[in-house]
Amino acid sequence: MQALSRFLSMAAVAGLAVGMAACSPDKDTIVEPTGGGNSPTFANVSAALVSACGSCHIVGSGRPFIATMDSSRLVASGLLNTASPGTSAILVKARSTAHGGGIVTAFSARDSALVAAWIAALPNIDAATLTSVRTEFAPTLDGVGEALWLQAQPLTVPIGGGWAAATSIAIRAMYDDNYLYMYLRWDDRGASYVRTPWVKNADGSWSVSPAMPAFAAGMDWAAYMASRGGANFNPEAPEFMYEDKLAMIWNTYGPTTVPEFERTGCAAACHDPTKGGSPGTTYNSVRKDLAAKKYLTVPGQILDMWHWKLVRQNMNSKMDDQYVRYWVPVNDATAGNGGRASDTGSEGYRSNPAVNGRPTFKSATLGHLPPIYSWAESDTLRMTDAEVAGLPVGTVVANMITSPPTGNRADVDARGVYDRVARVWTMEIRRRLVTGDDKDVQFSDLTKTFKWGVSVFDNAQIEHSYSSVPLSLVFKK
Ligand code: HEC
Repeated sequence: MQALSRFLSMAAVAGLAVGMAACSPDKDTIVEPTGGGNSPTFANVSAALVSACGSCHIVGSGRPFIATMDSSRLVASGLLNTASPGTSAILVKARSTAHGGGIVTAFSARDSALVAAWIAALPNIDAATLTSVRTEFAPTLDGVGEALWLQAQPLTVPIGGGWAAATSIAIRAMYDDNYLYMYLRWDDRGASYVRTPWVKNADGSWSVSPAMPAFAAGMDWAAYMASRGGANFNPEAPEFMYEDKLAMIWNTYGPTTVPEFERTGCAAACHDPTKGGSPGTTYNSVRKDLAAKKYLTVPGQILDMWHWKLVRQNMNSKMDDQYVRYWVPVNDATAGNGGRASDTGSEGYRSNPAVNGRPTFKSATLGHLPPIYSWAESDTLRMTDAEVAGLPVGTVVANMITSPPTGNRADVDARGVYDRVARVWTMEIRRRLVTGDDKDVQFSDLTKTFKWGVSVFDNAQIEHSYSSVPLSLVFKK
């Protein structure tokens, strides 16, 4: 909650500065460094960063990079690449148009050289690399981490930018001859599974509850958050009727697939059409092409996307195998999904369909409302008109019917479990190293480094908190 208010203030500043950037003098005309001296000491680096970046990357802004980080936290952030200082996210972002703060003109070429020299002097570690270790025994895919996971070192990935309570996610990886396995842990103040249910109104009619309170078309994310309580915003509030989710994106065929992904991670695929291709969030249900969307801007580009959905697929131990593709923001039938597409096969879920404006099915064994707001296709029972008419006002009927997904869409196994005491999600993921589907990343050459990113959706449809630095996965023999 605190993190959120801080993010809001930063987002407001970001908006302002982006607007101003266009009027700022050309980068080359700035001669004097904004802070720090010439020798690459941490004190000088820190002064330069605080001065050029501190207006937005302040403590509590919800961003992983905070200008006042001490040297060890900066190293642990994963924003530095000691093997190749110039490719460090901290330097690349500051001069990239795919940066929420735009090109930071106050960060001079001399500042950049100073920081690069300091990074080059650091021990050669890469804090954003997850190492997958070979395992003799396969973990059971139940979402509960057995002791055998202790063979693998966790990577703690900072996440920010959305409304998730979690500010980081811990991930371990293992593999054997056939599969890659991952184990994830992240904080959440509550499990969310009230996904857009049917509700009986006072006049006897039925409505499907919205996932979130309405927004004005064209409203931006910061304004929406401010309108929903600002610092007191709570994604677990009863008016948010959605589900917890988690997603990963992989640069499908390696560095040449989406070159921008190698440098900026998932931000390479998140675009706000109203902001000239920069990442951002704008709500728009009327002009859907103007709403924030995930898409790629170069024809032929593709990213592999694994998308876990608590209410729709967890009971079948699956994570939706999807992908992100090229899309042009036009207000046609494609606008709802933007560049989001699915592998071939069935998704394994559908809404409880309307008949005469009311829900068709209930659960044969659990009645109208199962504990998680979905039930199996095989457990559906058609309700009669008389039965529905007799239900009291306010009756809630689940709106999701599930079945095992099929085909390439079912390539990724995943199971999440929520611990109500520790208030943490744990999840196990399993995918065949090689699937043979051209929409999928293939872990066939285990000497390669695979770039990826992860995001947490805390009872959110799109307002996910994400890892902004590209992560690497390597396989240890
Ligand atoms: C005007 C506000 C603003 C300024 C100034 C700014 N940034 Fe950012 N920065 C953002 C926003 C918003 C994001 C989140 C969106 C994104 O990932 O691009 C961000 C993201 C980043 C990221 C990705 C990791 C993270 O923390 O989310 C890095 C690295 C980064 N900025 C570095 C810098 C550096 C280095 C400077 C100073 C030279 C700087 N920024 C100045 C607004 C700003």
